[in-house]
Amino acid sequence: MWDKDKHKSTKTMSHVSDLQLDDLLGVEPRLLSRLKRAGIQSVLDLAVSIPHELAAGGGDYDDSGVAVAADTETVSDLILKAEEALMDSGVLSKEFCTAEEALERRKSLVRFTTGSENLDAFLKGGVETQAITEIAGEFGSGKSQMCHTLCVTAALDKAKEEGSIIFIDTENTFRPERIHQIAEVRGLEPEEIMKRVFVCRINNSSHLEAIIQNLGKSVEQYKAKLVIVDSIISLHRAEFPGRETLAERQQRLNVMLHKLLRLAEIYNIAVVLTNQFQSQPDNSSFGGWNDSTRAAGGNIMGHACTYRIFLRKAGRDRMAIMVDSPHHAYDQIGFTISEVGIQDVEGKKSIESTSSESGW
Ligand code: GTP
Ligand code: MG
Repeated sequence: MWDKDKHKSTKTMSHVSDLQLDDLLGVEPRLLSRLKRAGIQSVLDLAVSIPHELAAGGGDYDDSGVAVAADTETVSDLILKAEEALMDSGVLSKEFCTAEEALERRKSLVRFTTGSENLDAFLKGGVETQAITEIAGEFGSGKSQMCHTLCVTAALDKAKEEGSIIFIDTENTFRPERIHQIAEVRGLEPEEIMKRVFVCRINNSSHLEAIIQNLGKSVEQYKAKLVIVDSIISLHRAEFPGRETLAERQQRLNVMLHKLLRLAEIYNIAVVLTNQFQSQPDNSSFGGWNDSTRAAGGNIMGHACTYRIFLRKAGRDRMAIMVDSPHHAYDQIGFTISEVGIQDVEGKKSIESTSSESGW
Protein backbone atom coordinates (compact mmCIF):
# COMPACT_ATOMS: atom_id res chain seq x y z
CA MET A 1 0.00 0.00 0.00
CA TRP A 2 2.82 2.37 0.84
CA ASP A 3 6.37 2.44 -0.44
CA LYS A 4 8.02 2.44 3.00
CA ASP A 5 11.59 2.01 1.73
CA LYS A 6 11.31 5.18 -0.25
CA HIS A 7 10.23 7.13 2.83
CA LYS A 8 12.26 5.67 5.66
CA SER A 9 13.10 9.04 7.14
CA THR A 10 9.79 10.80 6.59
CA LYS A 11 9.13 11.68 10.21
CA THR A 12 9.61 15.37 10.42
CA MET A 13 7.33 18.17 9.36
CA SER A 14 9.57 19.23 6.49
CA HIS A 15 9.15 15.81 4.95
CA VAL A 16 5.40 15.72 5.07
CA SER A 17 5.19 17.37 1.67
CA ASP A 18 7.49 14.70 0.23
CA LEU A 19 4.74 12.16 0.56
CA GLN A 20 3.44 12.22 -2.97
CA LEU A 21 0.16 10.82 -4.24
CA ASP A 22 1.97 8.78 -6.88
CA ASP A 23 3.74 6.90 -4.08
CA LEU A 24 0.48 5.52 -2.73
CA LEU A 25 0.58 1.93 -3.91
CA GLY A 26 -2.42 0.23 -5.44
CA VAL A 27 -4.26 3.37 -6.49
CA GLU A 28 -5.46 3.33 -10.08
CA PRO A 29 -3.94 6.08 -12.27
CA ARG A 30 -7.52 7.06 -13.21
CA LEU A 31 -8.22 7.85 -9.55
CA LEU A 32 -4.94 9.67 -9.12
CA SER A 33 -5.69 12.01 -11.99
CA ARG A 34 -9.19 12.52 -10.67
CA LEU A 35 -7.72 13.58 -7.32
CA LYS A 36 -5.28 15.95 -8.96
CA ARG A 37 -8.09 17.54 -10.93
CA ALA A 38 -9.85 18.14 -7.60
CA GLY A 39 -6.78 20.07 -6.41
CA ILE A 40 -5.31 17.27 -4.26
CA GLN A 41 -1.56 17.36 -4.77
CA SER A 42 -0.12 15.42 -1.87
CA VAL A 43 -0.88 12.63 0.57
CA LEU A 44 -1.40 15.27 3.24
CA ASP A 45 -3.99 17.09 1.10
CA LEU A 46 -5.78 13.79 0.68
CA ALA A 47 -5.60 12.85 4.36
CA VAL A 48 -7.22 16.10 5.47
CA SER A 49 -10.00 15.94 2.86
CA ILE A 50 -13.66 15.44 3.61
CA PRO A 51 -14.98 12.43 1.62
CA HIS A 52 -18.27 13.82 0.32
CA GLU A 53 -16.66 17.15 -0.64
CA LEU A 54 -13.93 15.45 -2.52
CA ALA A 55 -16.42 13.13 -4.19
CA ALA A 56 -18.40 16.10 -5.47
CA GLY A 57 -15.37 18.21 -6.45
CA GLY A 58 -13.41 15.45 -8.14
CA GLY A 59 -16.10 14.33 -10.55
CA ASP A 60 -15.16 12.80 -13.88
CA TYR A 61 -16.76 13.37 -17.24
CA ASP A 62 -18.22 10.68 -19.46
CA ASP A 63 -17.75 10.56 -23.24
CA SER A 64 -20.56 13.02 -23.80
CA GLY A 65 -19.00 15.52 -21.39
CA VAL A 66 -21.61 14.98 -18.69
CA ALA A 67 -20.26 15.19 -15.12
CA VAL A 68 -20.19 11.89 -13.27
CA ALA A 69 -19.92 12.26 -9.49
CA ALA A 70 -17.08 10.32 -7.88
CA ASP A 71 -18.36 7.74 -5.47
CA THR A 72 -17.92 8.59 -1.79
CA GLU A 73 -16.91 5.05 -0.82
CA THR A 74 -13.98 5.04 -3.25
CA VAL A 75 -12.90 8.46 -2.05
CA SER A 76 -13.15 7.37 1.61
CA ASP A 77 -10.90 4.39 0.85
CA LEU A 78 -8.35 6.70 -0.71
CA ILE A 79 -8.41 9.02 2.30
CA LEU A 80 -7.92 6.01 4.57
CA LYS A 81 -4.90 4.95 2.48
CA ALA A 82 -3.44 8.43 2.86
CA GLU A 83 -3.93 8.31 6.63
CA GLU A 84 -2.26 4.89 6.79
CA ALA A 85 0.66 6.28 4.80
CA LEU A 86 1.05 9.11 7.28
CA MET A 87 0.92 6.61 10.15
CA ASP A 88 3.52 4.39 8.48
CA SER A 89 5.82 7.34 8.06
CA GLY A 90 5.40 8.37 11.71
CA VAL A 91 3.62 11.65 10.97
CA LEU A 92 0.33 10.50 12.50
CA SER A 93 0.06 8.24 15.53
CA LYS A 94 -1.10 4.69 14.92
CA GLU A 95 -4.78 3.79 15.23
CA PHE A 96 -4.02 1.89 18.45
CA CYS A 97 -1.09 2.75 20.63
CA THR A 98 -0.38 2.27 24.31
CA ALA A 99 -0.95 5.12 26.75
CA GLU A 100 2.82 5.11 27.17
CA GLU A 101 3.33 5.69 23.43
CA ALA A 102 0.67 8.39 23.46
CA LEU A 103 2.50 10.10 26.33
CA GLU A 104 5.76 9.85 24.39
CA ARG A 105 4.12 11.54 21.41
CA ARG A 106 2.84 14.33 23.64
CA LYS A 107 6.43 15.04 24.64
CA SER A 108 6.95 16.47 21.16
CA LEU A 109 4.36 19.14 21.98
CA VAL A 110 5.55 22.72 22.05
CA ARG A 111 3.86 25.31 24.27
CA PHE A 112 3.85 29.02 23.56
CA THR A 113 3.63 31.51 26.38
CA THR A 114 0.60 33.77 26.51
CA GLY A 115 2.68 36.55 28.05
CA SER A 116 1.17 36.03 31.51
CA GLU A 117 2.91 33.58 33.83
CA ASN A 118 -0.27 32.93 35.77
CA LEU A 119 -2.20 32.21 32.59
CA ASP A 120 0.59 29.91 31.35
CA ALA A 121 0.53 27.99 34.63
CA PHE A 122 -3.26 27.82 34.35
CA LEU A 123 -2.82 26.34 30.83
CA LYS A 124 -0.13 23.94 32.11
CA GLY A 125 2.61 25.63 30.12
CA GLY A 126 0.90 27.79 27.50
CA VAL A 127 -0.82 27.35 24.16
CA GLU A 128 -0.18 23.84 22.87
CA THR A 129 0.73 22.44 19.48
CA GLN A 130 -1.28 19.50 18.04
CA ALA A 131 -4.43 21.20 19.31
CA ILE A 132 -6.96 23.91 18.53
CA THR A 133 -7.31 26.52 21.25
CA GLU A 134 -10.46 28.60 20.99
CA ILE A 135 -10.49 31.99 22.65
CA ALA A 136 -14.01 33.32 22.86
CA GLY A 137 -15.34 36.44 24.48
CA GLU A 138 -17.34 39.62 24.17
CA PHE A 139 -15.97 42.66 22.31
CA GLY A 140 -12.94 44.22 23.94
CA SER A 141 -12.31 41.19 26.14
CA GLY A 142 -8.77 40.81 24.84
CA LYS A 143 -8.99 38.12 22.15
CA SER A 144 -7.07 40.07 19.52
CA GLN A 145 -4.60 41.35 22.11
CA MET A 146 -3.88 37.77 23.09
CA CYS A 147 -3.29 36.89 19.44
CA HIS A 148 -0.89 39.83 19.01
CA THR A 149 1.01 38.87 22.17
CA LEU A 150 1.27 35.25 21.01
CA CYS A 151 2.77 36.43 17.72
CA VAL A 152 5.58 38.07 19.65
CA THR A 153 6.19 35.42 22.29
CA ALA A 154 6.06 32.52 19.81
CA ALA A 155 8.18 34.20 17.15
CA LEU A 156 11.24 34.67 19.29
CA ASP A 157 10.96 31.74 21.61
CA LYS A 158 14.53 30.69 21.05
CA ALA A 159 14.36 27.83 23.52
CA LYS A 160 11.80 26.25 21.24
CA GLU A 161 11.64 25.53 17.54
CA GLU A 162 12.51 28.11 14.93
CA GLY A 163 9.59 29.06 12.77
CA SER A 164 7.00 31.64 11.90
CA ILE A 165 3.45 32.64 12.72
CA ILE A 166 0.58 32.79 10.24
CA PHE A 167 -2.02 35.39 11.24
CA ILE A 168 -5.29 35.10 9.34
CA ASP A 169 -7.11 38.37 9.88
CA THR A 170 -10.81 38.34 9.03
CA GLU A 171 -11.76 41.50 10.94
CA ASN A 172 -9.02 43.88 9.79
CA THR A 173 -7.80 44.25 13.37
CA PHE A 174 -4.22 43.06 12.89
CA ARG A 175 -1.89 45.94 13.75
CA PRO A 176 1.82 45.59 12.96
CA GLU A 177 2.49 48.62 15.18
CA ARG A 178 1.11 46.68 18.12
CA ILE A 179 3.41 43.74 17.38
CA HIS A 180 6.30 46.18 17.23
CA GLN A 181 5.30 47.81 20.52
CA ILE A 182 4.79 44.54 22.42
CA ALA A 183 8.16 43.26 21.22
CA GLU A 184 9.97 46.50 21.99
CA VAL A 185 8.55 46.89 25.50
CA ARG A 186 9.38 43.26 26.23
CA GLY A 187 12.99 43.95 25.27
CA LEU A 188 12.83 41.62 22.26
CA GLU A 189 13.89 42.36 18.68
CA PRO A 190 10.86 43.91 16.92
CA GLU A 191 12.40 43.82 13.43
CA GLU A 192 13.29 40.16 13.74
CA ILE A 193 9.81 39.33 15.02
CA MET A 194 8.00 41.34 12.33
CA LYS A 195 9.78 39.28 9.68
CA ARG A 196 8.37 36.09 11.16
CA VAL A 197 4.71 37.06 11.24
CA PHE A 198 2.90 36.38 7.96
CA VAL A 199 -0.45 38.13 7.79
CA CYS A 200 -3.28 37.21 5.45
CA ARG A 201 -6.15 39.67 5.24
CA ILE A 202 -9.38 37.87 4.40
CA ASN A 203 -12.17 39.47 2.36
CA ASN A 204 -15.05 37.04 2.59
CA SER A 205 -16.04 33.58 3.80
CA SER A 206 -15.10 31.84 0.54
CA HIS A 207 -11.67 33.43 0.72
CA LEU A 208 -11.23 32.13 4.27
CA GLU A 209 -12.32 28.65 3.25
CA ALA A 210 -9.89 28.66 0.32
CA ILE A 211 -6.99 29.83 2.50
CA ILE A 212 -7.70 27.13 5.09
CA GLN A 213 -8.14 24.52 2.37
CA ASN A 214 -4.59 25.25 1.17
CA LEU A 215 -3.09 26.09 4.54
CA GLY A 216 -0.84 23.02 4.58
CA LYS A 217 1.17 24.50 1.73
CA SER A 218 1.50 27.86 3.53
CA VAL A 219 2.52 26.15 6.78
CA GLU A 220 5.30 24.41 4.91
CA GLN A 221 6.29 27.44 2.86
CA TYR A 222 6.62 29.73 5.89
CA LYS A 223 7.65 26.99 8.34
CA ALA A 224 4.82 28.05 10.60
CA LYS A 225 4.57 26.76 14.16
CA LEU A 226 1.52 28.79 15.13
CA VAL A 227 -1.57 29.62 13.07
CA ILE A 228 -3.97 32.26 14.36
CA VAL A 229 -7.41 32.90 12.87
CA ASP A 230 -8.93 36.11 14.28
CA SER A 231 -11.85 35.42 14.01
CA ILE A 232 -12.96 32.08 12.63
CA ILE A 233 -16.65 32.78 12.37
CA SER A 234 -17.42 36.48 11.91
CA LEU A 235 -17.56 36.37 8.09
CA HIS A 236 -19.71 33.26 8.02
CA ARG A 237 -22.07 34.77 10.57
CA ALA A 238 -22.44 37.86 8.44
CA GLU A 239 -22.83 36.03 5.14
CA PHE A 240 -25.11 33.22 6.34
CA PRO A 241 -27.44 35.11 8.65
CA GLY A 242 -30.85 33.43 8.74
CA ARG A 243 -32.08 30.10 10.02
CA GLU A 244 -32.45 28.83 6.46
CA THR A 245 -28.68 29.14 5.90
CA LEU A 246 -27.67 27.83 9.33
CA ALA A 247 -27.10 24.25 8.20
CA GLU A 248 -24.85 25.35 5.34
CA ARG A 249 -22.89 27.71 7.58
CA GLN A 250 -22.32 24.99 10.18
CA GLN A 251 -21.24 22.54 7.51
CA ARG A 252 -18.72 25.03 6.12
CA LEU A 253 -17.42 25.75 9.61
CA ASN A 254 -17.10 22.02 10.26
CA VAL A 255 -14.99 21.53 7.15
CA MET A 256 -12.62 24.35 8.16
CA LEU A 257 -12.27 23.10 11.74
CA HIS A 258 -11.69 19.52 10.65
CA LYS A 259 -8.93 20.69 8.34
CA LEU A 260 -7.32 22.89 11.00
CA LEU A 261 -7.29 20.06 13.53
CA ARG A 262 -5.63 17.68 11.08
CA LEU A 263 -3.05 20.33 10.22
CA ALA A 264 -2.34 20.87 13.93
CA GLU A 265 -1.77 17.14 14.42
CA ILE A 266 0.16 16.46 11.26
CA TYR A 267 2.46 19.49 11.37
CA ASN A 268 2.76 19.70 15.17
CA ILE A 269 1.56 23.31 15.07
CA ALA A 270 -0.62 25.29 17.47
CA VAL A 271 -3.90 26.62 16.08
CA VAL A 272 -5.54 29.52 17.91
CA LEU A 273 -9.03 30.62 16.87
CA THR A 274 -10.96 33.54 18.23
CA ASN A 275 -14.71 33.39 18.44
CA GLN A 276 -17.45 35.84 19.25
CA PHE A 277 -20.17 35.63 21.84
CA GLN A 278 -23.73 35.67 20.70
CA SER A 279 -26.62 36.61 22.88
CA GLN A 280 -29.54 34.26 23.29
CA PRO A 281 -32.74 35.80 21.95
CA ASP A 282 -34.62 34.91 25.12
CA ASN A 283 -32.40 37.08 27.29
CA SER A 284 -32.15 40.85 27.35
CA SER A 285 -28.64 41.21 28.82
CA PHE A 286 -26.80 41.27 25.51
CA GLY A 287 -23.02 41.35 25.87
CA GLY A 288 -23.17 40.48 29.54
CA TRP A 289 -21.75 37.41 31.23
CA ASN A 290 -24.37 34.92 32.17
CA ASP A 291 -25.49 31.42 31.38
CA SER A 292 -27.37 32.45 28.27
CA THR A 293 -24.38 34.12 26.64
CA ARG A 294 -22.74 31.60 24.34
CA ALA A 295 -19.84 31.36 21.96
CA ALA A 296 -20.93 31.38 18.32
CA GLY A 297 -20.67 28.28 16.14
CA GLY A 298 -22.79 25.98 18.28
CA ASN A 299 -21.85 22.39 19.04
CA ILE A 300 -19.64 22.09 15.98
CA MET A 301 -17.29 24.72 17.37
CA GLY A 302 -17.49 23.32 20.89
CA HIS A 303 -16.62 19.78 19.82
CA ALA A 304 -13.89 20.60 17.31
CA CYS A 305 -11.76 22.77 19.56
CA THR A 306 -9.43 20.97 21.96
CA TYR A 307 -9.39 23.81 24.49
CA ARG A 308 -12.12 26.36 24.91
CA ILE A 309 -11.23 29.47 26.87
CA PHE A 310 -13.73 32.23 27.52
CA LEU A 311 -12.52 35.74 28.28
CA ARG A 312 -14.46 38.35 30.15
CA LYS A 313 -13.84 41.85 31.37
CA ALA A 314 -13.29 42.33 35.10
CA GLY A 315 -12.98 46.05 35.61
CA ARG A 316 -9.71 47.07 33.98
CA ASP A 317 -8.46 43.49 34.08
CA ARG A 318 -9.67 40.31 32.44
CA MET A 319 -10.62 36.78 33.47
CA ALA A 320 -9.86 33.66 31.45
CA ILE A 321 -12.17 30.71 32.09
CA MET A 322 -11.29 27.19 30.97
CA VAL A 323 -14.65 26.00 29.79
CA ASP A 324 -13.66 22.78 28.04
CA SER A 325 -10.44 20.80 28.05
CA PRO A 326 -9.43 17.14 28.04
CA HIS A 327 -7.12 17.69 31.01
CA HIS A 328 -7.89 20.95 32.79
CA ALA A 329 -10.52 21.42 35.44
CA TYR A 330 -13.16 24.10 34.96
CA ASP A 331 -11.34 27.05 36.47
CA GLN A 332 -10.55 30.70 35.99
CA ILE A 333 -7.60 33.06 36.31
CA GLY A 334 -7.05 36.80 36.08
CA PHE A 335 -4.75 38.62 33.65
CA THR A 336 -4.52 42.10 32.25
CA ILE A 337 -3.73 43.97 29.04
CA SER A 338 -1.06 46.65 28.92
CA GLU A 339 1.60 48.03 26.61
CA VAL A 340 3.41 44.65 26.84
CA GLY A 341 0.27 42.88 25.61
CA ILE A 342 -1.09 40.18 27.90
CA GLN A 343 0.49 40.00 31.35
CA ASP A 344 -0.10 39.17 35.00
CA VAL A 345 -2.18 41.62 36.99
CA GLU A 346 0.67 42.00 39.50
CA GLY A 347 3.15 42.67 36.67
CA LYS A 348 1.05 45.55 35.40
CA LYS A 349 0.85 47.11 38.85
CA SER A 350 4.64 47.15 39.13
CA ILE A 351 4.89 48.75 35.65
CA GLU A 352 2.28 51.36 36.59
CA SER A 353 4.20 52.38 39.67
CA THR A 354 7.25 53.14 37.53
CA SER A 355 5.69 54.37 34.25
CA SER A 356 3.04 56.78 33.07
CA GLU A 357 0.98 54.23 31.04
CA SER A 358 -1.87 53.94 33.49
CA GLY A 359 -4.67 55.39 31.43
CA TRP A 360 -6.05 52.00 30.29
P1 GTP B 1 -13.53 42.21 19.44
O1 GTP B 1 -12.58 41.85 18.36
O2 GTP B 1 -14.16 43.52 19.25
O3 GTP B 1 -14.56 41.14 19.68
O4 GTP B 1 -12.72 42.35 20.81
P2 GTP B 1 -11.39 41.65 21.31
O5 GTP B 1 -11.77 40.65 22.34
O6 GTP B 1 -10.57 41.17 20.17
O7 GTP B 1 -10.69 42.86 22.06
P3 GTP B 1 -9.19 43.33 21.92
O8 GTP B 1 -8.25 42.19 22.09
O9 GTP B 1 -9.06 44.15 20.71
O10 GTP B 1 -9.06 44.21 23.23
C1 GTP B 1 -9.26 45.57 23.22
C2 GTP B 1 -8.93 46.11 24.60
O11 GTP B 1 -7.54 45.85 24.88
C3 GTP B 1 -9.08 47.58 24.68
O12 GTP B 1 -10.38 47.90 25.05
C4 GTP B 1 -8.08 47.94 25.75
O13 GTP B 1 -8.67 47.76 27.00
C5 GTP B 1 -7.00 46.90 25.61
N1 GTP B 1 -5.81 47.41 24.87
C6 GTP B 1 -5.64 47.40 23.54
N2 GTP B 1 -4.46 47.97 23.23
C7 GTP B 1 -3.86 48.32 24.37
C8 GTP B 1 -2.61 48.96 24.71
O14 GTP B 1 -1.82 49.30 23.83
N3 GTP B 1 -2.33 49.17 26.02
C9 GTP B 1 -3.20 48.80 26.97
N4 GTP B 1 -2.89 49.04 28.22
N5 GTP B 1 -4.38 48.20 26.70
C10 GTP B 1 -4.72 47.96 25.42
MG1 MG C 1 -10.70 41.32 18.13
